[in-house]
Amino acid sequence: MKEIRTVGIVGTGTMGTGIATNVAQHGIAVRLYDARPEAAQAAIAQAKAFWAKSVERGRLAAAAAEEAAGRLAVASGLGELAGADLVIEAIFEDFELKARLFEELSRLLPADTLIATNTSCLRVSELARHVARPERFLGLHYFSPAQINPIVEVVRGEATAPATVEAGLAFCRATGKKPITCKDAYGFAINRFFCPYTNEACRLLDEGLASTAEVDAVAEEAVGAAAGPFRVQNLIKPRINLHAIRNLAPLGPFYAPARSLIEVGEADRNWEIGEVGEIPPERRAAIRDRLRLGVFLAVLQELDEGVAVPADIDTGAREALRFAKPPCALMNELGRAEVERILAPALARYGLPRPASLDRVGHLTS
Ligand SMILES: NC(=O)c1ccc[n+]([C@@H]2O[C@H](COP(=O)([O-])OP(=O)(O)OC[C@H]3O[C@@H](n4cnc5c(N)ncnc54)[C@H](O)[C@@H]3O)[C@@H](O)[C@H]2O)c1
Repeated sequence: MKEIRTVGIVGTGTMGTGIATNVAQHGIAVRLYDARPEAAQAAIAQAKAFWAKSVERGRLAAAAAEEAAGRLAVASGLGELAGADLVIEAIFEDFELKARLFEELSRLLPADTLIATNTSCLRVSELARHVARPERFLGLHYFSPAQINPIVEVVRGEATAPATVEAGLAFCRATGKKPITCKDAYGFAINRFFCPYTNEACRLLDEGLASTAEVDAVAEEAVGAAAGPFRVQNLIKPRINLHAIRNLAPLGPFYAPARSLIEVGEADRNWEIGEVGEIPPERRAAIRDRLRLGVFLAVLQELDEGVAVPADIDTGAREALRFAKPPCALMNELGRAEVERILAPALARYGLPRPASLDRVGHLTS
């Protein structure tokens, strides 16, 4: 298996900077290239600032911070990435732009270089058509902030070789990450259920069943969320969440964005979250069921499709989303009858078949 000693990063905005910080801190040399050279310089400055804070907080030795900084260098052209064992693309989320970049990288890089995309919404298999060696191409989907969030989805496209997946997993582990293997499917393993969870929260507003503050207040009880779906959306921005949900549209009407989300997302506003008073028990139960519905139905469907395994889905929920009650473990605990009760109204409303994986509830483990 190819050992990764040098990584090239193309696109050093939010994600490229976070990935570079994480990789360099774990002993691997990083070459940063951005179409705007000042962005690559800024990435190095940000990484150094991050390490300085870590030193201040006693989380990193000063010598380690200095060594990590020594591993970062700006590449003034894509050709300078030819010495990298792995090149990670983190440019704008635009298919044509990424396709042109991969064509150029294919001309410039040696045949055995691994190429990864950090795309959130595009198909890895379609992007793979623009690389010379699709068997050495994969998705490495980091979560923001990438220097901190431990989860990376390792996405195998249709042509990705098993050895490439293995190399991706080994690289993630070597850089302190907890990788999750998944198929190249809409939303991969985590956004597949995170999006409908936030969407059901918005549908509760559309239907006049709850306020934003009430939904957020019940999210802890529902899925053990450290912060409710509206507060979290305000962090990632409703506009971005709307874009991610729209990407799931081919999965059917259950995934269609809620009216209020379209309104707030398109206006690029944040959710207003007021004060919360006493929530009547019936309303509390209705909110809890709807939030669980968003997660459970999507997770059971992705299990049916073989997108990811229960253990990885739960690791992602716990570590990337901070759900203290991850979906598969929670469904096992609640039991099949209760999960069926929660799902029933949505299966009827959207004319959906009963997910086959419901029969595994109680022993959704690996
Ligand atoms: N922001 C997130 O939370 C997040 C999470 C996971 C994945 N992603 C994905 O990561 C990718 C990057 O997202 P981001 O938020 O870091 O974007 P960003 O806008 O912060 O940074 C993109 C960078 O790419 C550079 N760039 C654009 N075109 C280029 C080209 N052809 N060659 C070289 N550099 C180029 C830009 O100058 C910019 O610095 C996207 O595909 C996005 O979907 C984002």
